[in-house]
Amino acid sequence: MNPYYLTTPIFYVNAQPHLGHAYSTVVADTVCRYQRLLGKDVRFQTGTDEHGDKIVHAAADAEVSVHEYVDRISAMFRAAWPVLAIAPDTFVRTTDPAHMAVVQGILQQVYERGDIYFSEYTGLYCKGCEQFLTEKELVDSKCPDHLTEPERISEQNYFFRMGKYQEWLIDHISKHPEFITPERYRNEVLSFLKEPLEDLCISRPTTRLTWGIPLPFDNRFVTYVWFDALINYLSGLGYPAGPDFARYWPVAEHVIAKDILKPHAIYWPTMLKAMGLEPYKRLHVHGYWNMNETKMSKSLGNVVRPGELVAEFGADSVRYFLLREMSFGLDAGFSHEALVARHNSDLTNDLGNLFSRSLTMVKNFAASAVPQPGTPSEQDRELAEAALAMLTHYREHLDHFAFHRALAAVWEVISRANKYIVSTQPWELAKDPQQADRLGTVLYTLLETLRLITLTLRPIMPETAAKMAETLGVTGETNLNDCGVWGRLVPGSAITPGAQLFPRLQREEKDKTQPPKAKAMKEPAAAKASAPEATPEDEGLVTFDAFQKLELRVAEIIAAEKIAKSDRLLKLTVKAPEERTIVAGIAQHYQPEELIGRQVIIVANLKPAKLMGVASHGMVLAAKEGDRLVLSALSGPVAPGSRVA
Ligand code: MSP
Repeated sequence: MNPYYLTTPIFYVNAQPHLGHAYSTVVADTVCRYQRLLGKDVRFQTGTDEHGDKIVHAAADAEVSVHEYVDRISAMFRAAWPVLAIAPDTFVRTTDPAHMAVVQGILQQVYERGDIYFSEYTGLYCKGCEQFLTEKELVDSKCPDHLTEPERISEQNYFFRMGKYQEWLIDHISKHPEFITPERYRNEVLSFLKEPLEDLCISRPTTRLTWGIPLPFDNRFVTYVWFDALINYLSGLGYPAGPDFARYWPVAEHVIAKDILKPHAIYWPTMLKAMGLEPYKRLHVHGYWNMNETKMSKSLGNVVRPGELVAEFGADSVRYFLLREMSFGLDAGFSHEALVARHNSDLTNDLGNLFSRSLTMVKNFAASAVPQPGTPSEQDRELAEAALAMLTHYREHLDHFAFHRALAAVWEVISRANKYIVSTQPWELAKDPQQADRLGTVLYTLLETLRLITLTLRPIMPETAAKMAETLGVTGETNLNDCGVWGRLVPGSAITPGAQLFPRLQREEKDKTQPPKAKAMKEPAAAKASAPEATPEDEGLVTFDAFQKLELRVAEIIAAEKIAKSDRLLKLTVKAPEERTIVAGIAQHYQPEELIGRQVIIVANLKPAKLMGVASHGMVLAAKEGDRLVLSALSGPVAPGSRVA
């Protein structure tokens, strides 16, 4: 099995995990699960960065010893990941004695080779970054990340001869276009390297800081945090002698955000070169999650806690949102409303409905077993081909960390499959025994499409994909190469529909759940003014003005379910264009699964009423012919919410 090794940054323990940390770790977990799906032997590493000034100050603020503090926060990071269905193989702490020994071993080796020397340095030191900054890096004389003015300090210290490796690094980046991706960050690094590269100060005097790894050759100094932290990528593999190092280091890849590009793209490869090691294979750099246009960060106090989101939406919904909403490499804005909207629209409506409608039909029309397919028609072939093409696009995009594109490709097929149900009308086929073959083909095509969708979702939404696989009876499908082909479902095998995949969430603001006030209702004066002319009431006629008060609109049904203990009522979720619930007395005439995707006419400004405990915001129009009810329809598709007059 080919090895694959991917790491996240190791996070500072001066703050509890927030959504920004969660994003990098969800990305790494997703890619690792994807590589496993391709059959690779994967090693996934994360951890915590526990030395340095920042941590000492945070512990002092918390009024506990540094040891106690780092143990506490590191444990919080460790505990945060399973909540998001993230499963790292190794969790490195820079205070682990094993890690500290590796750092000291490397320092000694590089020192003996002559690439570490003692000297005096005067420079602008940013406490937040824990590094010296050049004049050029400042914006308005301040550190652009911490918005504070750096202090000018002079110190005797040890230096790493980083400048010596500048030409080698430029050459390496130029010859390996995939070394730093996306390309904008590669260009940023190459442009930085146009200026002479200074040597790197890699020590801090113990007079200023004792919370660090002592230099093995001079115990008056501790190691600068970056020379300590970056080495976690080696120490976690048991460097230098461990077999895991030999196996995984040659294929190492790192995920980071753009804030730590310089240490990863410049310090780290030159450090590796000085150690006589090959550089990592690829560095994947993403943008920031912002809140109201500002980077989400502890220091700015605008963080979102992943655990709180998971409690409300579930781990898979949060993972999906993070991967779908951000274009890897660019910044993205976080908002609660956007998360609710993605959950309801992409997960509950599109995926959840497709799954539950298909499974209900297999249960009702095929006795909960995979049906025998007949000869496929053009329409069936088209869906099958689209599902296979989805796998190709999905792989191309995931190979390049384009998660949002991979998911768009999957959702395109989900939407196609939902339309396929509307146009093939399996419930009509089920009424005609002559169409049994055709019905079998349609249901089989849907189930196979769902099986392939399930495969693609394994890395993204592991819990949902596991539920889907269990329902479809394909729990052993864990390899994309073997299983990403059409027609693996065996006719006759059992299908076991389970619970709903994603419960619908109500929006937070109350007014969003209410239909917007109808225009006509805002104009009682006008209606009143014309009322005296409305004389023909006795004849059962209404005036045009009275009719105008009725707000008829086009609504699209996006979800439908039976109401418990009622034979007559269905609870419909419609888009008109806002989402609303309407209770309709059509359960004896329509199955829920045949309603989704239909457009109907509703009375949008009917006073809300509760029916069997469910609040109904409007009424669906239907024709009544004896005992029969036939829903209103339009002769062509119309934007939901359009007025009917
Ligand atoms: N300890 C160093 C990294 C050492 S790696 C050898 C460090 N720690 S950190 O806690 O500040 O984490 C920075 C990383 O957290 C970013 O590179 C990114 O992975 C993640 N993020 C923190 N805030 C973020 C956003 N607002 N948006 C996206 N990712 C963010 O730097």
